[in-house]
Amino acid sequence: MTATSPAPGAPGDTGPDRAALRRRLADELAAARARTRALTHDAFAADDPDLTRQHSPLMSPLHWDVAHIANMEDFWLVRRGAPDADVVAGVREDLDHLYDAFTNPRSGRPDLPLLDPTEARVYGDRVREMALAHLEAGRLDERRALADGFLFGMIVQHEQQHVETMLATHQLRSGAPALHADPPPPAVVPGLAGTEVFHEGAEFLLGTSREPFALDNEKPAHPVRVDSFLLDAAPVTNGEFARFVDAGGYADRAHWSEAGWDHITAEGWSAPMTWEQVDGRWHRTSFGVREAISDVADQPVLHVSFHEAAAYAAWAGKRLPTEVEWEFAARYDHASATTRRFPWGDEDPTPERANLDQRHLQPAPVGAYPAGASPLGVHQLIGDVWEWCDSGFEGYPGFEPFPYKEYSEVFFGGDFRMLRGSSFGVGTPNARTTFRNWDLPIRRQIFSGFRCARDA
Ligand code: AVJ
Ligand code: FE
Repeated sequence: MTATSPAPGAPGDTGPDRAALRRRLADELAAARARTRALTHDAFAADDPDLTRQHSPLMSPLHWDVAHIANMEDFWLVRRGAPDADVVAGVREDLDHLYDAFTNPRSGRPDLPLLDPTEARVYGDRVREMALAHLEAGRLDERRALADGFLFGMIVQHEQQHVETMLATHQLRSGAPALHADPPPPAVVPGLAGTEVFHEGAEFLLGTSREPFALDNEKPAHPVRVDSFLLDAAPVTNGEFARFVDAGGYADRAHWSEAGWDHITAEGWSAPMTWEQVDGRWHRTSFGVREAISDVADQPVLHVSFHEAAAYAAWAGKRLPTEVEWEFAARYDHASATTRRFPWGDEDPTPERANLDQRHLQPAPVGAYPAGASPLGVHQLIGDVWEWCDSGFEGYPGFEPFPYKEYSEVFFGGDFRMLRGSSFGVGTPNARTTFRNWDLPIRRQIFSGFRCARDA
């Protein structure tokens, strides 16, 4: 997202730029809500137990997400986004404790006295009506959290993050397929899988101080020196990963870290999450539809944990990139010696550049998005699959929690590994090269894949 601000000291908060910003934020709020609807009330009847059931202990019941989205918007936009007031009364402050993600871990959420699906939807509608009134009437040039519409952009991204989480819940759900989409575009650049691109070391600007809707952990921009390295031109594909599986990769301890080996042996993992052998051939199940891996061999592998990604890299004689290397490859333009917003330049993502917004409900084959490649020819850094990086989660020098420390700061220094890029399930407003995602190294219900790197 881009936004323009009046010159510092400019009077007032009106004019065409401000009107365009308000319209853009209103459109993005509406687009996020349309996705929430599509995954909940459009996919099921209002009394369908699939909305209230817990499909996996790793996930919330879908109607918890719907009301949690509403409650976050109630807290930040209704109460703190009001014009000329620091905090006004919320729609349902009494619900804050039920939908607080910190006091209620996912596994226990089905046992709470939650709103039913219809009540959750109506709560969201009421909150949205008031949030839009505040967006229309409020000033976007005062109070730091509201400047340039930040809180509105933050809530757009929050809803989009939960939409991606709900999409992962659908992937774990058993039963008839409830979601449909057009297939992804075909590969037009052949032969990318396994090829490497040399990146000459340089100093670049990691993070951002310019993106108006960047979240706290992406800030501030600061110079970092990167040594030369090689990076795969595309994410590792199903076909490549199947060779690791078929070579006995999951049975050979030599490729695995101690924590990774302990986990796969305890869980009995022998392939990615959705894979199974049928009549001696590997298949995957994608939103309830089973397909032969040989039919999707050139798509990036999906639903692997950090440990599985790291083991594949070791088997291949490579390693995972650090998140600094990943962001350097996604942003640095050697020809102009500048740090840009995206691999293709400074313009926002489009359907021709990246597979986002669950437009295709699955990753596209590698080589399907030449318009999204970096100047050096690294493909599909944005969209398709989140990419595991071998870095822990820490704040950048000068980090400041904003506007609440539970978004990022409380996770710093934990046992998390970083994921970069974005997936086919990420909403366009969240797709930034500076965006930092994290999860435990054992998790694979997220839309996670990886590409490999190597010292030069
Ligand atoms: C950034 C994806 C790790 O889902 O836990 C949602 C996003 N934060 N609500 C998560 C988030 C608060 C977060 N991740
Ligand atoms: Fe949340």
